[in-house]
Amino acid sequence: MQISLEEAVLALKRGEVVAIPTETVYGLAADATNPEALKKIYTTKERPQTNPLIVHIAEVSQVKNWVTEFPPLAQKIAHAFWPGPLTLVLDAKPEVSRILTAGQSTVALRVPNHPIALALLQKSGLALAAPSANKYTQLSPTTAAHVEAGLGQAIPVIDGGACKVGIESSIVQVFKGEDVEWHWRMLRKGMVSTEQIEQVTQMAEATGDALTTQKIQVPGQHHLHYSPRTPLVLIDDKKILVQKINQCINAHQRCAALMFEKTFQEHTWPCTVKTLPESAEVYAEHLYAVLHALDALNVAQLFVESPPKTVSWLPILDRLQRASHQ
Ligand code: TXA
Ligand code: MG
Repeated sequence: MQISLEEAVLALKRGEVVAIPTETVYGLAADATNPEALKKIYTTKERPQTNPLIVHIAEVSQVKNWVTEFPPLAQKIAHAFWPGPLTLVLDAKPEVSRILTAGQSTVALRVPNHPIALALLQKSGLALAAPSANKYTQLSPTTAAHVEAGLGQAIPVIDGGACKVGIESSIVQVFKGEDVEWHWRMLRKGMVSTEQIEQVTQMAEATGDALTTQKIQVPGQHHLHYSPRTPLVLIDDKKILVQKINQCINAHQRCAALMFEKTFQEHTWPCTVKTLPESAEVYAEHLYAVLHALDALNVAQLFVESPPKTVSWLPILDRLQRASHQ
């Protein structure tokens, strides 16, 4: 059910959930300080309460409302990438809802780079908890239509068009190590890369010593995640891709494939094929929309030609590997 920005502000203030566009994926938003509203997020998504939520805020100055300390290292990262597709995990103030943090001592924060999300945060004056607006373990939505297909017509959604980044934010934790210095580590890969964080902080990602006493908690990073309903097979070798498709057809099964334009042109394919270009940015932008479309064909198998294993493709490979984990 599509609603306007003004209606969304009122609904959120009443403690309801509203699906909203961000630059990464659509989020299922609720007032981050209202425990009853937060519970509605978990029940709507059918998400276990052990998996914490990201808090969306309007600007960097609001971080201090949520954390015990906002160290210079985290400030550097926030100023470099906000508003944008990056989430910071910091030590939470004790009064932050345990429903939000799933009982952890940390809280995840992000300033999204989307005019509707920002207008909503400013007009409501709220901080908004928002996980991706899909059922637990399913594909994230990048359009309002994906939200309605996944969560049902009864969910109020603001239509902000297709998301530009297309995959979920990078999640970076800033923490005090055993050496009592501040360190950072990447908890979830996204379109802001480890290399970009290294450049901005002039500091390598934490390894070994700094981590030994630091409890490594990455909830929600299940293998089975971001999955279409159709079994998805990720294939490195083009010859094998051809073989697999032919095997499927010979067994009288329908299948579909996602491949690079170049590969597509090399053969005549006996199945539905969608293509994406060899640009990681463009591929990420359209990945979920293509997977949603192929999933809707109700075929027996989805075959995906694996992208190169180079740095810029790592967040995409991560999503595809999880999607292929059956
Ligand atoms: O791009 C995004 O991040 C989107 C948009 C809507 O902002 N949100 C999103 O939320 O992807 P969700 O809930 O689908 O994924 C958030 C991830 C989960 O894996 C969760 O476990 C992790 O963030 N997370 C949240 N709070 C955390 C914390 N305190 N410590 C570690 N991980 C945390
Ligand atoms: Mg999600």
